[in-house]
Amino acid sequence: MRIADFALERYFARWEFAVKHVLCASDVEGWPMADLLELADDETRAMWSSLRLGYTESTGHPLLRREIATLYETIDADDVLVFAGAEEAIYCLLTTSVGPGDHVIVTFPGYQSLYEVARAAGAQVSLHLLREEDGWSLDVDRLVRSFRPETRIVVVNAPHNPTGMLPSDEEWRRLAAACAQAGVRLVADEVYRFLEHDGAAALPAGADLDERAISIGVMSKSFAMAGLRIGWLATRDRTVLDGCARLKDYTTICSSAPSEVLALIGLRARDRVLARSRQIVGANLAVLDEFFARRADAFTWVRPSGGSTGFPRLVPDGPAGASADRLAERLVEATGVLLLPSSTFGFDDAHFRIGLGRTDLRQAIEKVDAFLA
Ligand SMILES: Cc1ncc(COP(=O)(O)O)c(C=O)c1O
Repeated sequence: MRIADFALERYFARWEFAVKHVLCASDVEGWPMADLLELADDETRAMWSSLRLGYTESTGHPLLRREIATLYETIDADDVLVFAGAEEAIYCLLTTSVGPGDHVIVTFPGYQSLYEVARAAGAQVSLHLLREEDGWSLDVDRLVRSFRPETRIVVVNAPHNPTGMLPSDEEWRRLAAACAQAGVRLVADEVYRFLEHDGAAALPAGADLDERAISIGVMSKSFAMAGLRIGWLATRDRTVLDGCARLKDYTTICSSAPSEVLALIGLRARDRVLARSRQIVGANLAVLDEFFARRADAFTWVRPSGGSTGFPRLVPDGPAGASADRLAERLVEATGVLLLPSSTFGFDDAHFRIGLGRTDLRQAIEKVDAFLA
């Protein structure tokens, strides 16, 4: 299979571990292992201390699948398939679901694998453009108008990376209903679910809205445990999971045994885990609101409604310049602060992603301030 380079991941491969401040990460600051183990209950503590490092069940540890299922209203443990991160889930799902002659619609700008894997599988891909002038909102009517007879899948990432878009409950249900009526499968990339800002309600999970819809989840973002590399698909359509399981035999076969137990600990303690993430993201959002209000000469800021990223734009002729590539290059050289220019999303050269999940955001923003001064 030939597939285009993943531009964002290539950029991170170059910079992520070479800079002082990653001001553009999409994950939340990783949990310290020792703190996580303190959240274990009697059962998971015993599982951890007696863990044997053999192969694990290829569908995922039964207790982990059962715990993941509790994140949904209509999902049983057998409706869950565990993967090495959301990335493997996306790869297996799109590779096995579409091919030549099929049409797929994907929100854009966005996480590249959501459309690139479908393209590499031979499908025709239409990108559903989120427009800044509409506050990056999901235009359900325009999206539904782009359905074709051969449309198989609509992929929506919400809360959205990089814009922080979160549809309203009404829009989300309307889209799910339109997909169901047209026989189009809704794939909901919900890796930022539970990070809704300012009391915005979490949307119903895609998998709960229709029996053919699929939810993608992961421990990396809201649960702040990217290093576990545990993600999943949840759907009542078990034929899809069966197809994915057959491809997974050629990718990772099964999950990492320690990671499964640690993910189970994290999910069982999710109130504590999510409260920490929301606290970090909320505090950072306040810093950014203040910064962007003060530096409106340089940036425009559509405040994200959910997730752990935002997507500011450079003001033409402003003090930060008009090229996000150039700004990112100069900033990282001068200060060690990393931004993610919108060219890595194949979008334009006027935006950049900013990450809300890291605990050094305030220091990084101080450096950006000093740089602009
Ligand atoms: C929208 C979206 N989906 C999936 C992923 C993949 O998650 P992971 O790297 O944890 O597999 C990401 C990661 O940035 C993402 O932003």
